[in-house]
This record gives sequence, structure tokens and C-alpha cells, in this order.
Amino acid sequence: MADWTDCLNFGISIAKQASETILVAYHQQKDVKLKSSSADLVTETDQRVEAILISAIRSKYPQHRFIGEESVAAGEHLELTDCPTWIIDPIDGTVNFVHRFPFVAVSIAFTVNKQTEFGIVYSCVEDKLFHAQRGRGAFLNGDPLRASGQQDISRCVVVTEIGAERDDLALSTMTSNIFRLLKLPVHGVRALGTAAVDMCQVATGGADAYYHIGMHCWDIAASAIIVQEAGGVVMDTDGSAFDMMSRRVIAASSSAVANHIAQVIQAFPCRRDDKV
Ligand code: IPD
Repeated sequence: MADWTDCLNFGISIAKQASETILVAYHQQKDVKLKSSSADLVTETDQRVEAILISAIRSKYPQHRFIGEESVAAGEHLELTDCPTWIIDPIDGTVNFVHRFPFVAVSIAFTVNKQTEFGIVYSCVEDKLFHAQRGRGAFLNGDPLRASGQQDISRCVVVTEIGAERDDLALSTMTSNIFRLLKLPVHGVRALGTAAVDMCQVATGGADAYYHIGMHCWDIAASAIIVQEAGGVVMDTDGSAFDMMSRRVIAASSSAVANHIAQVIQAFPCRRDDKV
């Protein structure tokens, strides 16, 4: 079995370097542009950090491929092949970054044969580095992570987001899903504004579940393996196996909690990431 530890260590080092650029820009005025909606933002820093990451990886691993949020936004074809592939979100939580709401992450996943080998989520303002390697556990700043194991939905804190889709159907579905969860009841519903960091809360045991519809593969690919390696469960909101291209995800402390959420929430149609 191939060992991708060198790639993991390289990924961690460049995520930390990228965060230096992000943290300098975090305190400055930003030039903000809209992408798909009024809540889907991009700044010059998102584009610059993605270019820095890809150029560093390409010079060390010239055969590897990339799926990057801003490259896809600029028109690059999105295809997950069997080749070693780096899936990059240079700034997850761009709205937070623009407003200086302090949850902003570099998210990097690495796949081979379409299977995720490792994931890195660096929440830069908090200086929290989450990582996991397949079969080797999940860690926060080097300390092992464990999901809560909670089985009872009525004792759960659930993290979710309204998301960047702002048409009537998406908004009414996402807001009514929050109502449905609160009526179960759950202990609370939370949102940090970055899918990657939201989902890592399940790996820490600080939250018991996360669900989202409408995010993209680069938002959740890294945190999915972090949750799994912390002993959590990741699935599609329709109860089927996790598919990072489907734009739907539930991450939970247990199958019981994940299935309960899948039964309660509704989805709105989203075009798959690999069908654009
Ligand atoms: C967004 C964040 C947000 C989620 C959106 C994503 P971005 O990613 O992860 O939490 O609700 O669906 O698009 O644009 O900041 O990389």
C-alpha cells in the first residue's frame, strides 16, 4: 500500500505558509466580487492563495492533478480521476474573511483512485490545525480527536449553514430544516460560516452532527475524512453513501444520529459538482 505521508506533511507545511498570506490580508480592506449569488464571494486573496498552493504542489509533484475552488470558478473543468488529486479551498469562509468573523480555513484533501488519503483543515485565525490520514486517526494540533459517540438526537448540538444558494426554494428548505431539527428537539443549532470548520466540530465531539446542502466538494472533502478518522459517520442527506460531488452531506457522532437527521430534513435540487 502506498504511503502518502510525505504529501501530507508537505500539505501541512504549505497550508501554514498560505495562512500567513491570509492573516495579513484578514486585517486589510478587501476588494470583493460576487460569484453565483450575493453570498458567494471571492477576493484577490482567495485567488492568490490558491495559485500559491497549486504552484508549490506542482513544482514538487508535477504529475498530480488539482480541483481548486477558484480555478473551477475561473472555468477549469472539474473531474475527479484515479490520479493523485489535491482538492483545495484556499479560504473556506470567504464571507467570514471579508467581515473579519474569525473562522477562516485553508482546506486541502488528497485523493488517489477517488479515495481520500488525507485531509487538512487549518483554521488560521484560531491557529487550529486539523488533519487525518486514512487508517491513522484524526488530530487537532497533534492531539488525537474523538467524535462524541452520541446516539440520542435529542441530546445533540447540530451545526449547519443556510449556505450560498439564495433562491426561494433553497432558502425555504434550509430554514424549515432548522425548524424541523429544533422541534425534534435537539439541544441547539450552530453555524460558524465555514463548512470545513463546522464539520471538524463533529470530530472534536464539541458538536454531535453537521449537515449541509449546496456546498461543494472543496468545502467538505478534507473534513469528511477528519470526521471518519475520529470515529464519526459521514453520509449523504438521502441516507446513501457519502459522495463528495453530490453537494449534500451529514456528518455525525453515530449512525443513529445521522439516520435520524436524514429522515427529518428535506433537500432541494443541486447540480452535482462533476456535472457542471
Ligand atoms: C462556503 C462556506 C459556507 C457554506 C457555503 C460554502 P466558501 O464556502 O463553506 O459555510 O455554507 O455553502 O460555499 O465560499 O467560503 O469557500
